[in-house]
Amino acid sequence: MILNTELEYKGNLFPTNIISYSKDVDILHFTTENNIILQLTVLRDSVLRFRYTTVGKFDKDFSYAIDKDASRGYNHLEISEEKDNYLVTTAKLICEIHKTDLRISIYDANDKSVICEDELGFHWEESYHLGGDIVKMSKASQTGESFYGLGDKPQHINLKGRRFENWATDSYAFGKDTDPIYKAIPFYTGLHNGKSYGIFFDNSFRTYFDFCHERRNVTSFWAQGGEMNYYFIYGPKMQDVVTSYTDLTGTPELPPLWALGYHQCKWSYYPENKVKEITSKFRELKIPCDAIYLDIDYMEGFRCFTWSKDYFPDPKRMVKELADDGFKTVVIIDPGIKIDKEYSVFKEGLEKDYFCKRADGPYMKGKVWPGECYFPDFTRREVREWWAGLFKELIEDIGVKGVWNDMNEPAVMDVPGKTFPPDVRHDYDGNPCSHQKAHNIYGMQMARATYHGVKRFNYPKRPFVITRSAYSGTQRYTSTWMGDNVASWEHLQIANIQAQRLALSGFSFAGSDIGGFAEQPNGELYARWIQLGTFHPFCRTHSSGDHGDQEPWAFDEDITDVVRKFIEIRYQLLPYLYTAFYQYTHENVPILKSLVLFDQEDPQTHYRTDEFVYGNQILVCPINEPNSKGRRMYIPRGEWYNFWTQELVVGGRETWVDSDLDDMPVFVKAGAVIPKYPIQQYVGEKTFDEVTLDVYYKNGKEDSELYEDANDGYDYTKGRYSLMKFNLAGNEEKLVIRIHKRGQYITSYSNFKINLIGLPFEVTSIKVDNEEVDLKDLKFNNNSLVLTKEFTNLQIIA
Ligand code: GLC
Repeated sequence: MILNTELEYKGNLFPTNIISYSKDVDILHFTTENNIILQLTVLRDSVLRFRYTTVGKFDKDFSYAIDKDASRGYNHLEISEEKDNYLVTTAKLICEIHKTDLRISIYDANDKSVICEDELGFHWEESYHLGGDIVKMSKASQTGESFYGLGDKPQHINLKGRRFENWATDSYAFGKDTDPIYKAIPFYTGLHNGKSYGIFFDNSFRTYFDFCHERRNVTSFWAQGGEMNYYFIYGPKMQDVVTSYTDLTGTPELPPLWALGYHQCKWSYYPENKVKEITSKFRELKIPCDAIYLDIDYMEGFRCFTWSKDYFPDPKRMVKELADDGFKTVVIIDPGIKIDKEYSVFKEGLEKDYFCKRADGPYMKGKVWPGECYFPDFTRREVREWWAGLFKELIEDIGVKGVWNDMNEPAVMDVPGKTFPPDVRHDYDGNPCSHQKAHNIYGMQMARATYHGVKRFNYPKRPFVITRSAYSGTQRYTSTWMGDNVASWEHLQIANIQAQRLALSGFSFAGSDIGGFAEQPNGELYARWIQLGTFHPFCRTHSSGDHGDQEPWAFDEDITDVVRKFIEIRYQLLPYLYTAFYQYTHENVPILKSLVLFDQEDPQTHYRTDEFVYGNQILVCPINEPNSKGRRMYIPRGEWYNFWTQELVVGGRETWVDSDLDDMPVFVKAGAVIPKYPIQQYVGEKTFDEVTLDVYYKNGKEDSELYEDANDGYDYTKGRYSLMKFNLAGNEEKLVIRIHKRGQYITSYSNFKINLIGLPFEVTSIKVDNEEVDLKDLKFNNNSLVLTKEFTNLQIIA
């Protein structure tokens, strides 16, 4: 045994007392006697950043997660010194820095209540094995505290009592509680005493989070290297926490509207006539569909950026024919580049020295679908540029509309750990490092390069990209799916939780492989999954193809009818979903809202997993069990209308909801104005001259929005969009809707068909812009009327 040498485990090390501090505008430095420095930055009134160094100086400040456009600024900042503490005060927070040990306590500036308080606070362990420090933070958990977030974890929505690891991992047929899986999103939200805050630990090494698992009243997080570098974000509303985190890490641009339609995928559809058979069947059976996917078999020997001559002899013609029928073609592109001296992408990558290398010089060689491969170092700007350029032929010449990035954890077959070994070197954009630091951001940088390529060659249309692996901030470039799930009822439930959790973690544009990737669903499970997928921001059926077919017609006719019915509802609700995307991309508002995010003041919501709010006003609850005729669910506080029966229910309680196989529990918030388009087989199939507004009566007030633009392209960034705000106010004898409009886009339709739902009185007169109009002129019938879209004030009078 070696004792008393440098190799001896030293255990946890702690900062000692503060000996000096300095302030430079909004950045404060506190230095301890043992030379630990805390850098505290006030980014906003409610956002503080904490960085610690144990070596007397900070590394270059660099992060892939933080959006360059993240907002910054505060209107009040003070620092004062007390006997035991320094106090940093903003308009929203008081941050106490303890002089003896550098511990932090953060209080609400209004009522002085504790929001978040260090337990041991920052400490570290020297890592002789990996190099650097294992940096650690522990916080006292408050009474009744709950935790949410962390990306794609397939576990209960409330993270309390559990421990997690963030290390992007290829996880074929993962299960409930498998950890880690594909993504690493080190951001969580805590909620206690009605107040919510967030912690974003921006460290791309392998990180861990423990939510009162090891010790009942302690929450801790640590990383196997790098800096203790975290952002504290105050709400107190959880929605504001998520919104601020999303502002920090960014949002995507608006997707083209077609990307919000239904997508069909399988591993794999080939050859060409099989693809055509599938797309024609959609049109024949009148099941709306906008995108068809080609998995790895479209390539020549799995070489990226090539086409199999046997299966797809003339891809340009095929893609055009599919496009003429309304289908956008999306193709898969993996990171592994086949080692083949005759293959141009390989040759060029080698000549230009773009592939990742091991520490001692050889290339990082690993097996993936094509056999032995090398892997581009996407953390180098020139490599991303090169990669983006490779999409010219696919996108510009052939006409492919979207790209699917897979295996980018990065996944490597037949090796322990199923990824690169830790010694592999990466540029990390001028901050050279090992794979330990770059692993979790590798997939993100690949998707980023892909996004720039697709955008460049598809311009002036918008790009569509989907990725499997992700780190915080990846949502700026791409949508995502949850990877290789399983066709089981349990996985249907997991898919629901994952989509909600990703939305809570800033990544709204997500959906699961509908029906399950591995194994095969029966018709009932498939139908129930389509119902859930209808209300996910991304809606795609995908399966491994080993176990039979998984198209909407692969089961009984009854099932096809249910699938059609729900996909049609998705297409009718496209303007509602697009508006939610507008609110997400422009206002950082998550598209799916777990009940706790929707109403954190109601403790009943803190452990609810199944129910969620889609957009702002539609409450959804999937049926997760076979042979169900309905289920019990929690209806949040307020008044809601059953979407199918229009019956009014009062929330704040659990209730039974009938839901046979062709139905699922869906409710609309009282006062909502829900826009609907006519059913189309694909986006842009029809130009219509009427849009429906379903108006749900409320005795009180409610606001709704409708965002529209050209559905693709960038004119909207120049003001050519149309944003309508509906302010609804109702009482026993009147319902008034006021419309405010913004933007210069002229929608192609001329009328609104308005359906008045739940009116408690009989209509005797209607005023449009304060003038009484004959009911006949409005085609008033059965509480429906038709009105030109130009009105600004509508009064329905008893
Ligand atoms: C991975 C992906 C899956 C894809 C398959 C073949 O398993 O997660 O979606 O179909 O690879 O490319």
